[in-house]
Amino acid sequence: MQLTADQIAQYREQGYLLLPNVFNPEDLTLIKRNLKALAIPGGEGVVMEDNGLIRALHGCHLNNEYFDQLIRDPRCLGPARQVLEADVYIHQFKINVKAAFGGDVWPWHQDYIFWRKGDGIPTPNLVNISIFLDDITQFNGPLFFIPSSHHQGIIEVPPNVGEEGGWEANVSAKLKYTVPNHVIADLEKRHGMVAATGGAGTLLLFHPNMIHGSVPNISPYDRELLLLTYNHIANQSTGVPNPRPEFLATRHGVAL
Ligand code: SIN
Ligand code: MN
Repeated sequence: MQLTADQIAQYREQGYLLLPNVFNPEDLTLIKRNLKALAIPGGEGVVMEDNGLIRALHGCHLNNEYFDQLIRDPRCLGPARQVLEADVYIHQFKINVKAAFGGDVWPWHQDYIFWRKGDGIPTPNLVNISIFLDDITQFNGPLFFIPSSHHQGIIEVPPNVGEEGGWEANVSAKLKYTVPNHVIADLEKRHGMVAATGGAGTLLLFHPNMIHGSVPNISPYDRELLLLTYNHIANQSTGVPNPRPEFLATRHGVAL
């Protein structure tokens, strides 16, 4: 799949791009079937909410053939190569479940600070490409964006007190690096805020410096979101003292 010049320009300006109806119901059935097979509490890369529901699955492409093929699907790989203008590899693969009646918050944050500090990725030359596995509405915890906030670059923040711990602090509801409220208030005044909604099968691209978050899901509707983070092949980790597990961050990427 190829993005148009206008779509690429919109992504670069706004920091995100929503493309409806990219994956069809048959694709979604297969994705969900494979997800279900991996969604085992206690499984490697499976993160739980405090209430005992599954919050997220990581590194699904490493132990599932269908997901290993999905990262090569031209509908994801094509746009990733186009916006990064290079060969790419998968830095991170995750499925955020955000279950009905209990999927928890993602506080306001930028992704790249985790990849720079946690994984030693030198520049924000990555892109998130996500697939809506359910209809995502204003009710079931859509991603919130501050459009164009990626132009701020990385907002340097210290780790939240008490969240210095293991890799779970990068993926739990108590995130290690969050953007302070006064910064959100100021940027929101200038740029407004959007909820990334759309039907199941929508593809969503967003920039690693985009400020984003999502509220808890108190609705009766699940909100499963599959997220692929592609990295520019020349933007590989320079190494960090305590690398995160491979299911969270690829150490040596091979071009897809
Ligand atoms: C969410 O699933 O709502 C948050 C995703 C992210 O922060 O990457
Ligand atoms: Mn994020």
